[in-house]
Amino acid sequence: MREYPFIDCTERYDSIMVFGKNKDVLVHRWYPFVEGYSKEFIEDILQELPFTPQCAMEPFCGSGTTPVELQNHNIRCYSFEVSPFMYLLAKVKLERTYDEVTLVKYRNSVADTLKNPIQYIRREEAIPFGDTVVHKDGKKKWNFHDSSLDGILDIRYAIRTKVDDERYKKLFSIALASIILQASNMFRNGKCLSYKKGWENRIISRNEIHKLFLNQLDTVISEDVKILSSQSAKVCNADICYFGDVRKSIENVDDDTLDLIITSPPYLNSRDYTDIYMLELKVLELVNSHEDLQKLRKSTLRSHVQVKYEEVKPIDNARLINCLSDMKKSDAKSWNSDILNMICGYFEDMQQLFSAFSQKMRKGGVIYFNVANSAYFGVEVPVDMIISDIAEDCGMKVREIRKARDIKTSPQQSKSLGKKLHESVIVIDK
Ligand SMILES: C[S@@+](CC[C@H](N)C(=O)[O-])C[C@H]1O[C@@H](n2cnc3c(N)ncnc32)[C@H](O)[C@@H]1O
Repeated sequence: MREYPFIDCTERYDSIMVFGKNKDVLVHRWYPFVEGYSKEFIEDILQELPFTPQCAMEPFCGSGTTPVELQNHNIRCYSFEVSPFMYLLAKVKLERTYDEVTLVKYRNSVADTLKNPIQYIRREEAIPFGDTVVHKDGKKKWNFHDSSLDGILDIRYAIRTKVDDERYKKLFSIALASIILQASNMFRNGKCLSYKKGWENRIISRNEIHKLFLNQLDTVISEDVKILSSQSAKVCNADICYFGDVRKSIENVDDDTLDLIITSPPYLNSRDYTDIYMLELKVLELVNSHEDLQKLRKSTLRSHVQVKYEEVKPIDNARLINCLSDMKKSDAKSWNSDILNMICGYFEDMQQLFSAFSQKMRKGGVIYFNVANSAYFGVEVPVDMIISDIAEDCGMKVREIRKARDIKTSPQQSKSLGKKLHESVIVIDK
């Protein structure tokens, strides 16, 4: 089996691999994303590159950290995103034509409408789809109390009827998205949505919801738009941010054009982004039925078990085959063939992607690939090593695997593995 230089870079990377660092940063702060890295990670890469990149790519755009930051450095960056919510977020953050006067005009018009909300707003604005959105007889839990949902629907109505410029409509929708979790009875627990402690008695009035929204517009968005409109931008990455499954839409990039890829794909950790961002998807009417939801899940990378697939054969990789065989031998109670199928599907997707990366990259180009290892049934899956093998099989050269940080595992899992799992940055040369 191939070996790769493994370098401990925890001091360098530990604090910059988290999105939290972006929370006060121009534009990056428009929506509190969790599963991203910080703009410092991008800057760190640009500093170490011996050349100025001409054309980059981010295949898993998420909240847009990579294309936004590269745009700030006047570097073209293709990006791809399958979730309609993340796509909307990234496009809004990449737009460079907002101006203060128009923003204030629409803001005031929306604020005026919110002063006299329609009494029966649900006759004007549809309740987001699903059984647990608001209180219904027979349900023990619901995502929003009535006053919160009505407050949100008031805002959605005001945006729909008072903002006639699509760019601002989208911008205001992101301001609304940024308060949805706060307005709901839920929190993101890292894996999925859970109910807040004492949610039953935590009622927020309709008016307070309006205030949260207007505050986000006045303190965050307006301030940033003021700064943005005073800057001149040479490059705009909004037009090359594509909606859809990157496994297919990567074809939009010409061969031999890229000299840099920076990305962090979904990890092999069974987390489904569709679930994690369900409230935003529903409230913004980006997903309106169970069929929409299933369609979206089917187009995501195979890193979760929310979709059942036909049996997937493992790719020809000795490390992967050893892992699968150890898992099959394990006596873990939760042994489950859907998980094995997900693992095989994940690496099949990676193989397809790296074959495309190799085609789209110029000689001399570099890939920075941020992933984490996983463990199932007491067996570690060395995701970074398997992806390194895949990259080399596709004709590229792994320069090194950099350990970025240890990741949290349950005490039970650390005990059965005898070690912590880590996140790494694989540096690959074409
Ligand atoms: C770890 S996040 C990326 C975070 C990003 N680096 C940031 O800082 O915001 C991975 C993203 O990949 C997206 N994704 C999953 N499957 C995809 C697919 N098949 N095509 C494109 N994007 C996909 C998810 O919706 C998620 O937004």
